[in-house]
Amino acid sequence: MDRFHIVGPNRLKGTVQASGAKNAALPALAASLLTDEPLYLDRVPQVRDIRTLRRLLEHLGVGSKQNGSVLELAPAGEASLDEAPYDLVKTMRASVLVLGPLLARRGHARVSLPGGCAIGVRPIDQHLAGLEALGAKVRLEHGYVEVQSRRLTGSRFRFAMPTVTGTENVLMAAVLAQGTTILENCAREPEVVDLARLLSSMGAQIEGAGNETIEIQGVDRLGSARHTIIADRIEGGTYLTAAALTGGDVVLEGANPADLAPLLEKLVENGAEVSETAQGIRVARTGALKPRDLLTSPHPGFPTDLQAQYMVLMTQAEGKSTICETVFENRFQHAPELMRMGADIQIDTSYARISGPAPLSGAHVMATDLRASACLVLAGLVAQGETVVQRIYHLDRGYEGMELKLQALGARVERVS
Ligand code: EPZ
Repeated sequence: MDRFHIVGPNRLKGTVQASGAKNAALPALAASLLTDEPLYLDRVPQVRDIRTLRRLLEHLGVGSKQNGSVLELAPAGEASLDEAPYDLVKTMRASVLVLGPLLARRGHARVSLPGGCAIGVRPIDQHLAGLEALGAKVRLEHGYVEVQSRRLTGSRFRFAMPTVTGTENVLMAAVLAQGTTILENCAREPEVVDLARLLSSMGAQIEGAGNETIEIQGVDRLGSARHTIIADRIEGGTYLTAAALTGGDVVLEGANPADLAPLLEKLVENGAEVSETAQGIRVARTGALKPRDLLTSPHPGFPTDLQAQYMVLMTQAEGKSTICETVFENRFQHAPELMRMGADIQIDTSYARISGPAPLSGAHVMATDLRASACLVLAGLVAQGETVVQRIYHLDRGYEGMELKLQALGARVERVS
């Protein structure tokens, strides 16, 4: 079990390169199930979740190999099974993304139901309702979901709430359905747009990705494509938040400012200097941090995946602030660990009330999920003394070489196995 040893406080200064987005790469890899031709994906981040999905795809008959910066995916012999087993799905809920493509291409899929996780129950009822609307028969038994259909038929379906992987799953099924599909109340995240871009370059006919309504004209088959994954706005946003938190000066290279707009606008309100240079997005902070309330919501609102990082920032702001988490029902797991470091936070269901500035002192802390662990690392950067963040495997799921990127920015952090 790896740990991070961090000594603070110190300011982050320098340039950091954004990696490819984990949450765009995962559906892109799943899309390889939609064709029997090779797929070439550039800028796929080397993180644990990607390795997990590659193993699952291997099991489903799609081989993959890293060729320089390009991940090549192609059918490897006869497809063994259309089943995503429990021991793989339980480690990564995003495995559920193979459901739509397997159903569309092979007419059948059996996937272990993803359990809940630290941040909430996270049901997939909307994924299944969308596939049913396309004509699939859905059966739930023994902890598995089984879907089948001769050929999917286009139809109109409205999601009960915007769901990122739900939109991606049903979109990947609809591209091979017979006729027209209209999906309403879709997720508008940049990662959904990136998947639609990939599918279109494979021959799909999709209009409206990024808006609430997406229209798909089904086609008979999809072909090969080369595609570069978009930059990871959550990873990049984590480093820019750390710049404001530590009173540093950081330039993030390779990210799209539009995808980070909700965070950048908030950091300006907090008193940070935000600018776009030829190199990338620059965030610096010299003055006091101003407290500002936050409400998370689906894109284009403030992303729930940056909520924990923002909470650390508010522990150092001069005054009171409130965070309302509207997307997940249990996403304040990082708060008790921050309190152990000296933060002044009151939790009341989906509200967190923070009083600052509260000097943080280094401590042994434990992470519960990917973004909570990032938040504890950030806390270690400003805390007085040494912080040991345990269970770093959570971080390794979605952050490529985090300790190396932080060291390059001047942080005193090392990975200890
Ligand atoms: C995606 O999860 C991301 N994961 C999450 O990132 C991210 O936090 C989340 O979107 C919200 O932005 C990937 O893209 C792989 P949702 P997803 O379906 O698709 C409810 C990270 O840190 N819901 O948009 O699972 C659900 O319970 C991860 O990288 C249903 O009720 O999230 C939640 O309250 C964490 N029924 C809300 O919708 C459904 O069928 C939004 O969930 C589907 C969702």
